[in-house]
Amino acid sequence: MIVLGLETSCDETSAALVEDGRLILSNVIASQVDLHSKTGGVVPEVASREHVEQVNAVIQEALDQARCEFSDIDGIAVANRPGLMGALMVGVSAAKALAYSLSKPLIGIHHIEAHIYANFLGEQKIEFPLVCLVASGGHTQIFLMKDHGSYSLLGRTLDDAAGEAFDKSARLLNLGYPGGIVIDRLAKSGNPSAVKLPRARLGSESLDFSFSGLKTAVLNATAKGTTDHPIEDWCASVQEAIVEVLVEKTIRAATTHNVKSVLAAGGVAANSRLKSELAAACKRLGLNFSIPSPILCTDNAAMIACAGFYQLQRRGQDGLDLDVIATESLA
Ligand code: KG4
Ligand code: ZN
Repeated sequence: MIVLGLETSCDETSAALVEDGRLILSNVIASQVDLHSKTGGVVPEVASREHVEQVNAVIQEALDQARCEFSDIDGIAVANRPGLMGALMVGVSAAKALAYSLSKPLIGIHHIEAHIYANFLGEQKIEFPLVCLVASGGHTQIFLMKDHGSYSLLGRTLDDAAGEAFDKSARLLNLGYPGGIVIDRLAKSGNPSAVKLPRARLGSESLDFSFSGLKTAVLNATAKGTTDHPIEDWCASVQEAIVEVLVEKTIRAATTHNVKSVLAAGGVAANSRLKSELAAACKRLGLNFSIPSPILCTDNAAMIACAGFYQLQRRGQDGLDLDVIATESLA
């Protein structure tokens, strides 16, 4: 079964063709990052207009790269929640038009669920029960999954998301937007204990996160000047302060709930230090560990198509009255 996935919830216009929820035939991503770096963040109206400009060409490119025709598509999955309303509407309108004209099922997908399902792309076998850390620009949560489509929220951020902590720190360090990937690169040659930065643990049992204290500490320290440490040391120290807490709480969730597997997902899961530290901790405890390749961690439509494949088996298709929803928690 070939599912066309569409993703337009924020600042990437993406279309992908995925066979049987596993094999990526194409995954085309038109990024708006250059457009939004001028304003230091995503301007919703600008994002929507750019999606309108790009969406048809991106779908055609996804078909061409997969050497498929519209008639080869068995279903259309689209991110319809949560996200920027105008941006979501572009993808959902395109998906509805295709579903109607091709008489194929339409499947509305939760963007965060799709991030988790990026782990099911490819050949790896994932065993339940599992815990999944989802860390992106807007979300930081730990979910327990006992089976496909079953989510219990174990922990969440009380203020900033992990990606926001990366991006806001990067801005204070004059590294541009979005800065997570720049911090990752520069941190490779830095000393992670050079700059003393706080970690909010919120009690020995807590699975919640808080990154606002880190942001304030970076703000206060950079206000006094950053020349006391090389920029690489700043990056390594900020990254360590974020990664240490993400790993600690994910592993606590995994041991408390006695799971078989640990997954990570979302843009921040593209971070090389997070990957190596989580992998090492899981190995020590004998837990299966999965993290998507960096391109499948950040926003893309292959993850939407994959989640769509599983959702179609589980609960069938949506109607052409499918709505867009700005805010909706997965659990
Ligand atoms: O999942 P995503 O592409 O979009 C949202 O749904 O938010 O996540 C984007 C976030 C941004 O905050 C970006 O800085 C962060 O993921 N990010 C990274 C890395 N690559 C992307 N953070 C740390 N290290 C990276 N390599
Ligand atoms: Zn995302």
